[in-house]
Amino acid sequence: MRILFFLASLGIVAAENGLDGWLRYASLSCTGQCRSKLPANIVVLNATETSPIYIAGSELQIGLKSIYGSHAEITWGKCKASSSVVVGTVEQYRETCGSLSGIPELEEDGFWLSTQGDKVRILGSNDRGALYGAFEYLSMLAQGNFSAVAYASNPSAPIRWVNQWDNMDGSIERGYGGPSIFFKDGAIVEDLSRVKQYGRLLASVRINAVVINNVNANATLLTPENLKGLGRIADVFRPYGVKIGISLNFASPETLGGLDTYDPLDTSVIDWWSSVTEQLYQNVPDMAGYLVKADSEGEPGPAVYNRTLSQGANLFAKALQPYGGIVMFRAFVYNQLNESNWDADRAKAAVDFFKPLDGEFEENVVVQIKFGPIDFQVREPTSPLFANLFNTSSAIELEVTQEYLGQQSHLVYLPPLWKTVLDFDLRVDHKPSLVRDIITGKRFNRKLGGSAAVVNVGTNTTWLGSHLSMSNLYGYGRLAWNAADDPEAILQDWIRLTFGLDPTVLKTLTQLSMESWPAYENYSGNLGIQTLTDILYTHYGPNPQSQDGNGWGQWTRADSTSIGMDRTVSNGTGYSGQYPDEIAAIYEDISTTPDDLLLWFHHVNYTHRLHSGKTIIQHFYDAHYSGAESAQSFLTQWESLKGKVDEERYNHIRHRLDYQTGHSIVWRDAINNFYHNLSGIPDTSKRVGHHPWRIEAENMNLDGYKVYTVSPFETASGSIAIVTASNDTVGTATTKVDFPSGTYDLAVNYYDLYGGKSHWELYLNNHQIGEWAGNSEDVLSHTPSIYLDGHSAMRIKFRGVMVQKGDVLKIVGKPDGVEPAPLDYVAFLPQGVVD
Ligand SMILES: *[C@@H]1O[C@H](CO)[C@@H](O)[C@H](O)[C@H]1NC(C)=O
Ligand SMILES: *[C@@H]1O[C@H](CO)[C@@H](O)[C@H](O)[C@H]1NC(C)=O
Ligand SMILES: *[C@@H]1O[C@H](CO)[C@@H](O)[C@H](O)[C@H]1NC(C)=O
Ligand SMILES: *[C@@H]1O[C@H](CO)[C@@H](O)[C@H](O)[C@H]1NC(C)=O
Ligand SMILES: *[C@@H]1O[C@H](CO)[C@@H](O)[C@H](O)[C@H]1NC(C)=O
Ligand SMILES: *[C@@H]1O[C@H](CO)[C@@H](O)[C@H](O)[C@H]1NC(C)=O
Ligand SMILES: *[C@@H]1O[C@H](CO)[C@@H](O)[C@H](O)[C@H]1NC(C)=O
Ligand SMILES: *[C@@H]1O[C@H](CO)[C@@H](O)[C@H](O)[C@H]1NC(C)=O
Ligand SMILES: *[C@@H]1O[C@H](CO)[C@@H](O)[C@H](O)[C@H]1NC(C)=O
Ligand SMILES: *[C@@H]1O[C@H](CO)[C@@H](O)[C@H](O)[C@H]1NC(C)=O
Ligand SMILES: *[C@@H]1O[C@H](CO)[C@@H](O)[C@H](O)[C@H]1NC(C)=O
Ligand SMILES: *[C@@H]1O[C@H](CO)[C@@H](O)[C@H](O)[C@H]1NC(C)=O
Repeated sequence: MRILFFLASLGIVAAENGLDGWLRYASLSCTGQCRSKLPANIVVLNATETSPIYIAGSELQIGLKSIYGSHAEITWGKCKASSSVVVGTVEQYRETCGSLSGIPELEEDGFWLSTQGDKVRILGSNDRGALYGAFEYLSMLAQGNFSAVAYASNPSAPIRWVNQWDNMDGSIERGYGGPSIFFKDGAIVEDLSRVKQYGRLLASVRINAVVINNVNANATLLTPENLKGLGRIADVFRPYGVKIGISLNFASPETLGGLDTYDPLDTSVIDWWSSVTEQLYQNVPDMAGYLVKADSEGEPGPAVYNRTLSQGANLFAKALQPYGGIVMFRAFVYNQLNESNWDADRAKAAVDFFKPLDGEFEENVVVQIKFGPIDFQVREPTSPLFANLFNTSSAIELEVTQEYLGQQSHLVYLPPLWKTVLDFDLRVDHKPSLVRDIITGKRFNRKLGGSAAVVNVGTNTTWLGSHLSMSNLYGYGRLAWNAADDPEAILQDWIRLTFGLDPTVLKTLTQLSMESWPAYENYSGNLGIQTLTDILYTHYGPNPQSQDGNGWGQWTRADSTSIGMDRTVSNGTGYSGQYPDEIAAIYEDISTTPDDLLLWFHHVNYTHRLHSGKTIIQHFYDAHYSGAESAQSFLTQWESLKGKVDEERYNHIRHRLDYQTGHSIVWRDAINNFYHNLSGIPDTSKRVGHHPWRIEAENMNLDGYKVYTVSPFETASGSIAIVTASNDTVGTATTKVDFPSGTYDLAVNYYDLYGGKSHWELYLNNHQIGEWAGNSEDVLSHTPSIYLDGHSAMRIKFRGVMVQKGDVLKIVGKPDGVEPAPLDYVAFLPQGVVD
């Protein structure tokens, strides 16, 4: 911290690796008037080192020093009248410092913040609230905000959790930021310093619990040694007001306990879970509770014994009741379906399973419902289950880890997507029924409720694998506290805290972040057709065909004339009837269904006209072109910030945005090629299938290279690429350039496979223009692929190359391991042409 401050004060932008996230406390200048607003003392009303109030005191001291170079002495317990920050609980303040007026009744975890120049009062309803208040004040200081304020802030819901999908071996399911900070080789890691830093970040955005292991849970977490490890983790998080929870495997009594059953009504099973729960609370006295995925995607559950999901959930609820713990029970339960049945529909599953059980769950069970009925797609309608549970507490499940949304290798700022659901009015009983009022318990008068988000930070110093993705974790915390907040305002706080107060940085990063989700939707899957990614493999690149022809029920039902799921009651799956009347009526009727969900609800011809006036197919083509074009602009916008952001983060981000420009074109062309091929309907703007500036690799003179037919076909230009003849043959592809002389950007599309690091060299007339290696598996965060496909396809660009007509272009590819230096095409892009 000190070193950072020193460099920054000299005007040098220090290199940063991301470890502090938005809690960098970067140096700001403070002279004259400003100085008088800095407190000289910090009064901390609890001197116990493990207390969140103690942490609040030391964060305040570090923050003041680091941001403004001002040293504030800490006084324990004794109140000072002026020039001081006092931090503690309301109760402690009244006891120590005397009476207080004007403070409204605070809710659990809430706080009161009052700043009158150098006199600052930060008072929590509890220790945790006091820490939250301290972070709020520090956030103001770090943004140069010295306004006099006096307000209370209260959580909208008690459950503000994150879920980690960490496995015991240290891997993370759908994690893109390196291995687990919690587990390694089947045990809890020794060094928990990253856990402490995670606790600090989470506390600063008021997250109060972490479920630390994968919902696809491994019973070995419950061995005596691991229980001790859980105790150590909980000890590290506790000073930050963060509790831990764990995911359970339903079959544990059998697989770990050695019983011959895991029937939730069997007394030996009940006893086994009581005993495990007791041991857990011996190690973790304040454990938040359990998260359970049962009867879902092959995980064991009560159905194995013909028991209901509520009987399964209540087994754990009863075990937890003596300790005050809660069960988060996932609503993500569905079966494999047969696409031949027109009315089969996975989207209906949650309501079908849970609605009949409403009222049968114990009071400490919360049903955790994904925001949409399928699975974290780029856009989904609000899950109708929110409108079907009146006597059961519920929470929304969001996903910070960008599983279907670019895996941290694409910039996608998610809060605007989440808001489409949080702000959605389900009109239950014809009354206002916003999802955010349902999950907080307000609408149906439930005590419990809130939100959970799958986060999956890893050991990478960037936490999530990319600096810009941290806006999603920050935004999640802010919305979990108050879902009515504005995503753009949240984003701007994050930008100032993360990159400083330069107005150009603020404006630019706001613009590209706010455009990022619409752009991603445009080039991945639009009109409610879902993210058209490969659902059978990595969930990353394009593969529209993978949605259909299997039992997973993420169908598009696309054929040569038509596309979309008919989810109407009148002629389809009946899903729209799961909504309350007013909403059902909107979706039932194609003329009132919004364009952006049209194909979610209706099966139509490609020539069907949208409200916008465009046909479905032309909208696909246009949106994919505009989406990819937006992504090109992200890079140039970011490059305009060179010098305004430290070199390390500037380059890290630039590299990802550069990659995204190329991969957005891979997406655009794959989806457009696929539907162009399927429908046979031409693009009225004559772009799809027309690439006048490309030279296909297979049309070049090949030596050591051979032609390779790519599958899925739409992920190669002209469906064909080239690969080296064997994995120890160097390949050469040459051709004469037939474009007019001039300055071009040269783009080379190639495939970077897992399992090798090929090397390519690009020449014009034997003069080397550039070289590169197929090492993206080490540099980018997304799941790599072992095939030539939409995940491995990528593009590298060389800008401003002088080309003479008749020049000889040559690419030399050296294979490595299983990666045969694959090439798709080269594009000569005149200035301003995207290709
Ligand atoms: C101070 O914090 C510790 C640890 O959280 C807690 O046990 C203790 O009760 C607190 N003291 C007071 C006076 O609140
Ligand atoms: C300063 O912070 C307060 C409290 O968060 C906020 O209401 C106010 O809008 C901020 N002022 C500026 C100029 O950002
Ligand atoms: C559970 O963890 C143990 C210990 O690390 C490991 O041996 C086992 O393979 C894991 N089981 C599953 C299903 O992943
Ligand atoms: C499952 O339980 C239901 C209701 O309790 C009962 O009607 C049905 O016969 C049971 N099925 C089996 C296979 O036990
Ligand atoms: C799906 O249903 C069709 C028609 O009833 C049947 O021919 C087919 O075998 C079924 N497929 C599966 C995987 O069950
Ligand atoms: C749900 O609660 C309401 C009152 O809040 C009650 O009238 C109703 O019977 C309950 N329904 C069930 C299924 O428990
Ligand atoms: C973080 O991940 C990037 C790739 O996203 C990688 O280049 C870097 O080595 C990783 N750093 C650490 C410390 O894990
Ligand atoms: C009604 O459903 C059938 C399949 O059962 C489908 O073939 C037909 O196109 C649908 N009709 C309309 C008007 O959507
Ligand atoms: C959709 O296309 C099919 C095949 O071309 C045609 O028979 C049908 O009438 C079209 N439906 C509508 C509603 O235009
Ligand atoms: C998305 O596509 C639509 C339709 O082409 C276009 O109007 C809109 O500007 C695009 N937005 C972005 C951010 O690409
Ligand atoms: C679609 O692709 C297939 C196989 O690549 C090809 O035979 C067919 O002609 C294409 N159809 C259209 C309309 O482009
Ligand atoms: C080339 O491929 C073969 C067969 O897949 C493999 O056994 C061999 O190790 C590879 N050679 C290199 C240099 O990777």
